[in-house]
Amino acid sequence: MKAVVLVGGEGTRMRPLTETMPKPLLPLVDRPSLSHVLDHLGRHGVTEVVLSSPYLEETFAPFIESRRGHPRVTWITEAAPLGTGGAIVNALDQLGTEPFFALNGDILTDLDLTTMLAKHREHGAAATIALHRVDDARPFGLVITDADGRVEEFREKPADLIPGEINAGTYLIDPSALDRWEPGEASSIEREVFPAIIASGSPVYGFPSDAYWLDLGTPENYLQAHFDMLEGKVHDVTYAAPWVGEGAEIDLRAHLGRWVAIGPGALVGPGAQIDDSVLHPGARVLAGATVVRSVIGAGAEVGDGATVEDSVLGQGAVVPDGYALQGERVSSGTTYRPA
Ligand code: GTP
Repeated sequence: MKAVVLVGGEGTRMRPLTETMPKPLLPLVDRPSLSHVLDHLGRHGVTEVVLSSPYLEETFAPFIESRRGHPRVTWITEAAPLGTGGAIVNALDQLGTEPFFALNGDILTDLDLTTMLAKHREHGAAATIALHRVDDARPFGLVITDADGRVEEFREKPADLIPGEINAGTYLIDPSALDRWEPGEASSIEREVFPAIIASGSPVYGFPSDAYWLDLGTPENYLQAHFDMLEGKVHDVTYAAPWVGEGAEIDLRAHLGRWVAIGPGALVGPGAQIDDSVLHPGARVLAGATVVRSVIGAGAEVGDGATVEDSVLGQGAVVPDGYALQGERVSSGTTYRPA
């Protein structure tokens, strides 16, 4: 079984973390979030994964090396952004003639892919789209299915607070369904490709499930994914909470809340307090500093007695001693100065 995983977005909502590292390579507790995605695919029988990205391409090589071929990764260069549809079409040469999985690379889920494949075959579907039920569909747009589960339409984001089923970013696609799309053309899988397949009369089915599902596209969700993993809400992975990576130095007089992940080699000084936050590898929170609901990028530093709340520090960013930040984003490699 093969899969293509979409990893080529710029991740603008996750800036400044994505200024220096693509979103799928940001750590999710102990390893890049893409590693969790590939492990999940591997558990469901996927042996080969195709990846492509026009954005920070060079950063993927060490990741692929570290995976040691489980599942095997084939890299395709994507010279210009092809969008979510174009990137899948571009991978077709590597994907063979059997149905394949296509996934957004920034979704954390423990969806039962094995059952999804069985349903796809049972329906003789051209494509199957995993569906996730939400109470408030306003940020998403809805996928409307008939009584048999066949997809009728993709509906724009609703104006009113209504529940519904949304596209969960995991698909099974029969390669022949993509015949009419030329490699190298940019397109959106949800706005162009699937609607065209449906309009052509080919069967597209939904696969509803109540599996864990979270889009890691925003800092709030990225933090939530950590809390959920530490709490054991995602099948197949368990961690101690708080989680402290290898070689991290936590002063005995520091206080770590339960929903905290401290990356390898990070430092938390005496009297520092960390709650509901993530420190990337080598981040430093110095004496008496407070960090709440924030992400501290790799090698970034929160100075003595500083307070960082609801904020994101890029790689190597610095908050000088005594400053208080609330809802700020500090660019990679810069020193925070109040506006
Ligand atoms: P934002 O800029 O914050 O919206 O994030 P994003 O760029 O990741 O966009 P979005 O979350 O809509 O993308 C969904 C998935 O598709 C993510 O896993 C992206 O990495 C991926 N993706 C988006 N555009 C492209 C593209 O042009 N090429 C490839 N290969 N993947 C893409």
